[in-house]
Amino acid sequence: MKKFQIPVWIEEYRPDELPENIQKLKKAAEKARDSAYAPYSHFKVGTAILLGNGIIVTGNNQENAAFPSGMCAERVAIWSAGSNYPGQEIISMYISAKSETKKVDQPVPPCGACRQAIAEYETKQNKPIEIYFSGETGPIWKTDSLENILPLVFSGKELK
Ligand code: THU
Repeated sequence: MKKFQIPVWIEEYRPDELPENIQKLKKAAEKARDSAYAPYSHFKVGTAILLGNGIIVTGNNQENAAFPSGMCAERVAIWSAGSNYPGQEIISMYISAKSETKKVDQPVPPCGACRQAIAEYETKQNKPIEIYFSGETGPIWKTDSLENILPLVFSGKELK
């Protein structure tokens, strides 16, 4: 028997420490977040994606009275990028979350299903996607790649 650990590396930033282009991405994510459609959870999430051509694509969570029919901000954004800019590399993502009922002052990471969806694009482009995430206030966490926060990812290699 062999036992080993797979470390997860996270960088923590204050807003003023973010590179200028990421400050812009953060603003775009916050703007998208504030217009999320979340009448059931009152939990709003916005995602902004920076593409290789410099274009920023955004998305936010869209809820539905039939709850499972709703969708997370991250997948709305990444599928929008994939469908509108199919050949473009995804460089960075910023995810911002805010609740209408409580203070969110800790980073809110993407859910498991969104991580799997983002992984598909990282595998496809064979280049890491950097991901920043935060609450409405508080520290910002960054991972250099999706794979870092989804160790043992199912990438589909086994299907080929
Ligand atoms: N949500 C996201 O948009 N992204 C996540 O990664 C986690 C959760 C949304 C889904 C739902 O509309 C609300 O937050 C509460 O779960």
